[in-house]
Amino acid sequence: MRDVLNGQEMKQCDENTMKMGMLSAVLMERAALSVVKEIMERYPDDDTRILTVCGAGNNGGDGIAVGRLLALQGYEVGICFAGNPEKMTTETARQMKIAKNYNVPVLTPEEAFQENWDVIVDALFGIGLSREITGKYADIIKELNVYYEGAGKIAVDIASGISATTGEVLGTAFQADVTVTFGFEKRGQLLYPGAEYTGALKVEDIGFTTESLFDIIPGLHVLEKEDLDMLPKRTAHSNKGSYGKLLLIAGSEGMAGAAVFAAKAAYRMGCGLVRVATVESNRAILQQLVPEAVLAVYNDTTDVVKFVETQLAWADAVAVGSGIGQSALSEKMVKTVIEQNTKPCLFDADALNLISKNPEWLQFLKNGAVYTPHLGEMSRLIGTSIAEISKDLVGAALQYAQKNHVVMVLKDARTVTATEKRGCFLNLSGNDGMATAGSGDVLSGVIGALLAQGMLPEDAAPMGVYLHGLAGDAAAKKLGRHSMMASDIVDGITDLLKEQ
Ligand code: APR
Repeated sequence: MRDVLNGQEMKQCDENTMKMGMLSAVLMERAALSVVKEIMERYPDDDTRILTVCGAGNNGGDGIAVGRLLALQGYEVGICFAGNPEKMTTETARQMKIAKNYNVPVLTPEEAFQENWDVIVDALFGIGLSREITGKYADIIKELNVYYEGAGKIAVDIASGISATTGEVLGTAFQADVTVTFGFEKRGQLLYPGAEYTGALKVEDIGFTTESLFDIIPGLHVLEKEDLDMLPKRTAHSNKGSYGKLLLIAGSEGMAGAAVFAAKAAYRMGCGLVRVATVESNRAILQQLVPEAVLAVYNDTTDVVKFVETQLAWADAVAVGSGIGQSALSEKMVKTVIEQNTKPCLFDADALNLISKNPEWLQFLKNGAVYTPHLGEMSRLIGTSIAEISKDLVGAALQYAQKNHVVMVLKDARTVTATEKRGCFLNLSGNDGMATAGSGDVLSGVIGALLAQGMLPEDAAPMGVYLHGLAGDAAAKKLGRHSMMASDIVDGITDLLKEQ
């Protein structure tokens, strides 16, 4: 597992390092050298004409140092100072003085933009960007993106215009081919849309140490392959009861697939027993497609309250919602789960839509619930537009998780899982082939299976999301991304776990 910092945490890290006696000029020189290394690897020909575009903050100071160091390597360099000279930081002013004394050409934007440049280095704003970019700075960024479209684009630390904390575009943003960042990944480089502006991300060590983070508890983590060690273990002396009983309340008439995918995924994830509670009309298809699943069926005449209570008593964990629709019967069942269930429970799809319609149910919700909404379902849950939620996925997920004491899995191209106990997780596995019907049902089955095998909700949810993405990657490797279907993701789980 690795940590990803937000703007504030990174600032603190910088300050802590300085308090230990490290000079900011040294950090700046090392930062600039790491950018220069990247540029020299990409553009070894020293005829390359390189413009560094620099602001008044320390990011601009990095850019000025990059210009000087490239000039010393023999490149044709222009340093374009675009900031307000009166607002130059001490370090940036020092870099400007050195660059001038070294006779590196310093140009105004007007002068710089009359010339052709092969490579543009963006050092206008770094993690200190605090508000929308407007006016002359917005014009400069547009000029760099549009007029110099064919040039190589390198961002220093973070593409100008991207919020280091949320990944949103603050007004306008520099479109980089590569971003060289210092010490740690920043949230804004991994969250969309920031990730698109970042290009390839290179993280360079410039001298931060674990002590630099001593008083910082990073709020966002990324799971890695080594973390698969946390998966429930198989042991020789065991039976199917050792691997948990998962109750899936899933599927409705015409929506048998949701139950099929969730059940198959749960079994492939190692769950010992899966019971599917679904409408009677799905009996034949489920028995044919997942004969391993035990069925409990209901129809219009069933007393669903009693029915659900009986099933809950059997289960070690519950996943409710995939494909259940929003009928009066489904509503009664979800309400019963919320009121009666004491086991770890995942709420998906229409279960969440029903909760949105009945917010008063939340008072009955026990700790240990996992919610898996996509952005539309989240929007209904909190009554906020998708556009607004997208501005800060981590913030939205965490706020809900803390307020309602649930684990929130906010599904998007890069899913965020917010937990009260472990902080937030950003998932980097998976691919766009997984944007297909039934993919979310597979995720319900995966997380449900981990819950049934005894993982805590705050561990099972981020791990399930990570595995689901890895399974999608395994499927994409086999089939490509275009024709991938939910059942291929289930097969991907098998490929993935074969090696565990
Ligand atoms: N428009 C105009 N000026 C702005 C805007 C904006 N939208 N947002 C912030 N500023 C100003 C701030 O007032 C400040 O003067 O830009 C400056 C911040 O610039 P940065 O270089 O991003 O911030 P700073 O904290 O000085 O440096 C952080 O330094 O360690 C290096 O590159 C590393 O990204 C890191 C950077």
